Amino acid sequence: MKLALDEYLLEVLIPAEGLQARIAELGREISADYVGKNPLLICILRGGVMFLTDLMRQLAVPHTLDFMAVSSYGAGARESTGSVRILMDLATDIEHRHVLIVEDIIDTGHTMHYIVQVLQARGPASVRICTLLNKAERREVDVPIDYVGFDIPNKFVFGYGLDLDEYFRNLPFVGVVKPGVFLPSQRV
Ligand code: IMP
Ligand code: MG
Repeated sequence: MKLALDEYLLEVLIPAEGLQARIAELGREISADYVGKNPLLICILRGGVMFLTDLMRQLAVPHTLDFMAVSSYGAGARESTGSVRILMDLATDIEHRHVLIVEDIIDTGHTMHYIVQVLQARGPASVRICTLLNKAERREVDVPIDYVGFDIPNKFVFGYGLDLDEYFRNLPFVGVVKPGVFLPSQRV
């Protein structure tokens, strides 16, 4: 894989300033909703990392962190089949905790549907979902999203935590990949 950005970047969809402004808004909203609740933020690795670290700096309420990694496999294309598994589980006991899942993107919904089921079975006080990006057009399983950064069109995006074959997660913006140049087979 060539690692020159201009091989892959069609256009910037959400510039860095736009991300930061929206995340500040989300931070205010979440802070207001979680007063006195000491939430546990669960970041879904690896794509949620940039969003998590920026979001937590905008939170005015005490909170703790944990991480979970899940994998969804497609048929060698941009599809999520609905077969999801845990690659890395939490270290925290979430019983009676107010849990806020922090995710990069919800596409078909299969990944988030699975995560919510797994977490609900552990007896948390509440489970809410915060996703930076939402591709509603692609939804196959309904998931109740509490906080959405941006509703985006059905285009494959990367940057700001989202990768192309593990690269480009460091980009400060979300970009659209050029059509035909990249077909991910496994997405974490
Ligand atoms: P879902 O199970 O189809 O909702 O897929 C969710 C996961 O697929 C996300 O957590 C991402 O890891 C990955 N994904 C979906 N769409 C994109 C995209 O446009 N760019 C990068 N990763 C994506
Ligand atoms: Mg993800």
